[in-house]
Amino acid sequence: NEFVPRRVTVVGCGYLGAVHAAAMAEIGHDVVGFDVDEAKVALLNTGHTPFYEPGLDDLLERTLATGRLRFTTSYQEAADNGDVIFLCVGTPQRKDSNAADLVYVRSAVENLAPLLTEPALVLGKSTVPVGTAEWVRDTLRELAPAGDAVRLAWNPEFLREGFAVKDTLSPDRLVVGVDDPADAAELATVYGPILEQGMPWVVVDLATAQLVKNAANAFLATKISFINAMAELCEATGADVVALADAIGHDARIGRRFLQAGVGFGGGCLPKDLRGFMARAEELGVDQALAFLSEVDSINLRRRKRAVDVATELLDGDVTGKRIAVLGAAFKPDSDDIRDSPALDVAGTLHEMGADVRVHDPKALDNARRTRPGPQYCDDVREALAGADVVLHLTEWREYRELDPAEIGALVAGKKLLEGRNALDVDRWVAAGWDVKALGRPRVG
Ligand code: UGA
Repeated sequence: NEFVPRRVTVVGCGYLGAVHAAAMAEIGHDVVGFDVDEAKVALLNTGHTPFYEPGLDDLLERTLATGRLRFTTSYQEAADNGDVIFLCVGTPQRKDSNAADLVYVRSAVENLAPLLTEPALVLGKSTVPVGTAEWVRDTLRELAPAGDAVRLAWNPEFLREGFAVKDTLSPDRLVVGVDDPADAAELATVYGPILEQGMPWVVVDLATAQLVKNAANAFLATKISFINAMAELCEATGADVVALADAIGHDARIGRRFLQAGVGFGGGCLPKDLRGFMARAEELGVDQALAFLSEVDSINLRRRKRAVDVATELLDGDVTGKRIAVLGAAFKPDSDDIRDSPALDVAGTLHEMGADVRVHDPKALDNARRTRPGPQYCDDVREALAGADVVLHLTEWREYRELDPAEIGALVAGKKLLEGRNALDVDRWVAAGWDVKALGRPRVG
């Protein structure tokens, strides 16, 4: 089938939407990205992103130069260009409960629908509680002048921060939930150049499509908490969680990926999606089915406390006035995102306990300064390390793996390391005279 470029609108230009809009322009569509935030739209129109994501600035610049991509704050312009409309607005956790806050979804749908006078295919991409798609479908039909000609399908997104461009242009699968198979066929043509790469194309019903996303993130979170629970067992017995993960990971049914023990998961997705999923299950009367996820959440939060306890132990039981260097503030490397970041949480707690905490991160310091005042933030890693009584490695940026433990040993006051991500070459640190305690492994050195 020959690829036919379409007029595509992407509603919501946060993480997901900005990348998706640029990717749709890259494969040949004529794209309008819509957001209510004027500053964000102005920035994107000049080829800059409001967040750090490898490769995105290049992709934006390239696609803006083709003339196939522009950003707007006008609902009218969004609707006029929208033969195909992707809904990419955020669904954060509500302030008053664990449920997802659907205020942005509702606002986007209710503002856009009355402007849809022509047939359109609307695709929901946001992570939502199951049942939301059905509400979107019915509201569009009711409010859109084009009525039934406005169709709704659900097309969950699985991109990872740090790999967002690659995951969008070469995803490992594409999933779509539809009422009518014709809508899936139409979406397949929209994704034509991507689907040519041969990844699975999975067509399901609306409810399943919404649940696929909830299930995928819940499974990933469970896998991480499983290995972190094993880390607790390892610490109680003198065993080594890294060796354990390698050994069980050789079983292809288990797999080694996402068995990285450490300070646990954070970010804008896994923690809140887990809680939102449980909240929805409760509304549906099947809370027992997901009761185990609350344990997944607890295990995860215990890792942060464990990191604080180990740091305290390394400082002989008292952190007051001690200088602590924290390597990493972002919730994961290759991102400046500090939402629910374990690293920042640990740094903030130690600061509140009276330690002199100095945090370095290659990209996330501006966000950290704004969100978590207290610790001292250092643009230069050596400034954070100078005179430190203990070093905490909490986000596994490549630059930290490349540090020379002998060289930085000369900068610190005490050669003590908490390895919170099991990503450093511990033997090198020990050989350089460091006392190392890695989470889930015996203390060495
Ligand atoms: C996650 C999912 O991996 C994506 O598939 C999904 O699309 C996305 O959420 C979303 O819902 O939008 P992301 O939050 O970008 O992606 O990051 P992950 O790579 O999943 O890492 C999440 C957290 O788990 C990080 O804090 C990371 O350090 C931690 N992690 C990951 C571990 O502690 N151990 C591991 O083995 C893997």
